[in-house]
Amino acid sequence: MKGIILAGGAGTRLLPCTRVVSKQLMPVYDKPMIYYPLSALMLAGIREVLFISTPHDLPLFRELLGDGSRLGMRFSYAEQPRPEGLAQAFVIGCSFIAQEPVCLILGDNIFYGHGLTEMLLQAARIRSGGLVFAYQVKDPERYGVVEFGPDGKALSLQEKPRQPRSSYAIPGVYFYGPEVCVEAARLKPSARGELEITDLNEVFLRRGELQVLKMGRGIAWLDTGTHQSLMEAAGFVQTVQARQGLMVACLEEIALTAGWIAPEQVSREVQSMGSSPYSAYLKELLGSVGAPL
Ligand code: DAU
Repeated sequence: MKGIILAGGAGTRLLPCTRVVSKQLMPVYDKPMIYYPLSALMLAGIREVLFISTPHDLPLFRELLGDGSRLGMRFSYAEQPRPEGLAQAFVIGCSFIAQEPVCLILGDNIFYGHGLTEMLLQAARIRSGGLVFAYQVKDPERYGVVEFGPDGKALSLQEKPRQPRSSYAIPGVYFYGPEVCVEAARLKPSARGELEITDLNEVFLRRGELQVLKMGRGIAWLDTGTHQSLMEAAGFVQTVQARQGLMVACLEEIALTAGWIAPEQVSREVQSMGSSPYSAYLKELLGSVGAPL
């Protein structure tokens, strides 16, 4: 399975912070925001990732993340000149996807919690059709919304409805079979001029090919769209890390645990990162697997 991280957009709600820096490169506590969705793809077992961002920001992502070899992964990059919709990721990423199943995750979505890895691994087994999640929220009108029938099957989808038919939002992580490229290319722009992910999901729902899995309350799905939610997300990460002494979204830890890189690689990262807490955590990690620095 391939992975795509969509990290474009203008970040207007975070101006002036986002005037020169992409929203998805801003810190969420102690690491750039993009680390969090990237960690989710890695936990799903995905090693080949395409980053899509604006022509202005893409070089910065490339500088931060490189070709992926430091994590035993393969990264590529593509521009989205204008924010013309989430589903455009599959048009831009068509040759990258190359007839494989694919997972799209939004560069500003953070997931953390009990059972998440199993859920992502299960979703990553999809070979055709679509698979999305449903997550209970207080403010469904801000999201894509899914309504369930009495049999628990998805009945309808709405994008930012004034009157939501349920309190289940669809988080920004989506799994599809390779046919998603053809379906995305067939979409027409919505009234706001975007290729809507909800329209794409409708295509699969109408055909009876959309699975919707409920993400339970043990999983935190955090928003980073406003200054307030960004602060709250940072506070969440800080609290969890301080309590457990375990880091949320430590990319090298995930890669090492998966056997994608050797301890020597982690120790090279430690050397290159000076005396930051992130580097200190990696040092501890090396100690715990009995590898010398
Ligand atoms: O977060 C989940 C929600 O994401 C879903 O529930 C909605 O169905 C979906 O439409 C989307 O809603 P948002 O209001 O979050 O969409 P927004 O336009 O803010 O875009 C989400 C992120 O993707 C944002 O960081 C900017 C980036 N983006 C957006 C568009 C439209 C792009 O990189 N390119 C784009 O063309």
